[in-house]
Amino acid sequence: MNDAAALFAVFGHPIAHSQSPWIHGEFAHQSGIVLEYEAIDATPAQFAERLAAFAARGGRGANVTLPLKELALDLCAQVSEAARIAGAVNMLTRVDGGWHGENTDGVGFMRDLADRHRVHVRGRRALLLGAGGAAHGVAPALHAAGVSELIISNRTAERADRLADAIGDPAGVHTRYWDKLGEAGNFDLIVNATSAGRDETPGFALPYSLVGARCLCYDLNYGEVAHGFLAWARSAGAQHAFDGLGMLVEQAAEAFERWHGKRPDTDAVHDSLRSRAPALATGD
Ligand code: ATR
Repeated sequence: MNDAAALFAVFGHPIAHSQSPWIHGEFAHQSGIVLEYEAIDATPAQFAERLAAFAARGGRGANVTLPLKELALDLCAQVSEAARIAGAVNMLTRVDGGWHGENTDGVGFMRDLADRHRVHVRGRRALLLGAGGAAHGVAPALHAAGVSELIISNRTAERADRLADAIGDPAGVHTRYWDKLGEAGNFDLIVNATSAGRDETPGFALPYSLVGARCLCYDLNYGEVAHGFLAWARSAGAQHAFDGLGMLVEQAAEAFERWHGKRPDTDAVHDSLRSRAPALATGD
């Protein structure tokens, strides 16, 4: 797929804050690939029509961000296993007159941990906070990476149960009530997949006892949205507290490689984004 000025886009609402056009532009520049990459604003009600119009203009592939990831799944002719389990699609590729949907959040998350932070999660006892779209994206990858136990906790317990059921390993994946987390022991890995920092609710009030001696805490959000969780993690004595900026770049790199067949160098792009991270809102 190396045609001149191939057309790509990111869809979301709002979309003005999206870093994806810049990230894909940098990757393309590195790789000597010519592409057009647009940011297309679409509400859920507008999405199907705007995606069809994009395809009619020759759109080859698209990233999908909030609040369209679940809807995107329904617009696909075919989806990957990761997208099916996640119930959400963040990457669309045009194939045979329809869309192939994938979810690269999980693989982007694991790559950021393993390649950038040199952390491996195999054998770690893991706690996943949240059971919305972001949690669905990373839970299957965490499970597949061989954590010793995955506990999912969500403010609304039923959603955690549904996510655990979707993974389908009752021996290795458990749920806990949010307000009973203090009884869950401590963890080697805690992943914040809630959107708590996006609203006005005060920061995290979870028990510090969750944070084990060499615990890694990771917020899938970045920018100011992640500050509450990361401050909580540091106060609780976490060995590492990382935000999701690296995951943002890695999931974009995954999409870029699948579309263009070239693996970009993510470090320069990550470092550039990092230098202005406090100003970045969360979202792809
Ligand atoms: P996203 O696509 O970013 O995951 P989402 O699907 O709306 O967004 O999910 C938001 C997640 O954050 C949910 O797990 C939500 O919990 P509920 O299912 O109970 O709504 C969680 N969340 C949002 N605000 C929260 C808060 N103040 N405290 C704890 N969890 C919160």
